[in-house]
Amino acid sequence: MRILALESSCDETALAIISGSGSDWVLEKDIVYSQIAIHQKYGGVVPEVAARKHAETIFPLLTETLGEEKLATIDYLAVTAGPGLVASLLLGVTAARSLAYAAAKPLLPVNHMEGHIYSNWLSNSELKNNDQKYFPSLALVVSGGHTELVLMKNHGDYQLLGTTQDDAVGEAFDKVAKILNLGYPGGPIVSKEALEGDDQAYKLPRPMLNSGDYNFSFSGLKTAVLYTLEREKNISQAAVKNICASFQAAAVELLVKKTIKAAQEFQVKSIMIAGGVSANQLLREELKKESTKISLPLFYPELKYTGDNAAMIAVAAYYGLQNKNKKILKGEEIFSAKPLSNWQIFLK
Ligand code: KG4
Ligand code: ZN
Repeated sequence: MRILALESSCDETALAIISGSGSDWVLEKDIVYSQIAIHQKYGGVVPEVAARKHAETIFPLLTETLGEEKLATIDYLAVTAGPGLVASLLLGVTAARSLAYAAAKPLLPVNHMEGHIYSNWLSNSELKNNDQKYFPSLALVVSGGHTELVLMKNHGDYQLLGTTQDDAVGEAFDKVAKILNLGYPGGPIVSKEALEGDDQAYKLPRPMLNSGDYNFSFSGLKTAVLYTLEREKNISQAAVKNICASFQAAAVELLVKKTIKAAQEFQVKSIMIAGGVSANQLLREELKKESTKISLPLFYPELKYTGDNAAMIAVAAYYGLQNKNKKILKGEEIFSAKPLSNWQIFLK
């Protein structure tokens, strides 16, 4: 079985090819074109600009991915249908629909958050070879648009345990960087500054830490950083580092405490993290420490698969086909694929 996957939900245009049978699969191609440099000057992703860039890049990248080959060697097409920016999604979905219909190949719409979870299969051979041993698993999916605790009972079988009530954690990192004039995207910059800062220097709140559920809130934490800055007026370099460290410590504590609590309550066999924020070193270290205490294996993706990519979409489609849990659109049905900007992972 050979699958060509397309991803264009935000500011990365990506294509990948996976092939294999059973748990024996390989990623043959993996191409990501990131628009970050373009959006940096605006301080964040501009949806209209992102969509235009996807339109420009998607077909040249397709030619690069296929090389000398033709679509005839591909058995299925997969595309991220949501969640994400609607105009960006539309580009990928329209391209995939046209290709699938013209080449008479079935099309699988894939959920982007499910894709992030499957980035763990790309990076952990133990999980890839023995995944049944690790279900149910608790997935903490943390990105610029989402903060979700998902109970993965098996392939394609999800229960949403909690989500953010306001800002996503990646968004909070981005906004804190903006408040401090540090640039975009904020996560890598704030965490780098935090390395040399004192995380006890500022007493920042832990919103909803004891809410008794698995939901999150990061907007108050971001506002607390803003008020701190307003109070301080002339802020030194050292103070910026201290604010970054104090903010990061608060954000990570919220994520780790709720994840561990949910892991215990739902008696999972493993924990996974995924999404852009799973690149965060402190989050990895703290979660490793706490999951070891309760004897649970922790999986996380290699850094190159924490951000958006099509390899994770290809893997999600692959397991969807293996386990017959995905919609497979054929013939005229292909045109029913559409962008679903708020598609929830647990909805088929
Ligand atoms: O998954 P992703 O690439 O795109 C979305 O689907 O949103 O996630 C991007 C987010 C951004 O908010 C970025 O600031 C954050 O991931 N991020 C980080 C780190 N690297 C990226 N946040 C905290 N620490 C990092 N090291
Ligand atoms: Zn993403």
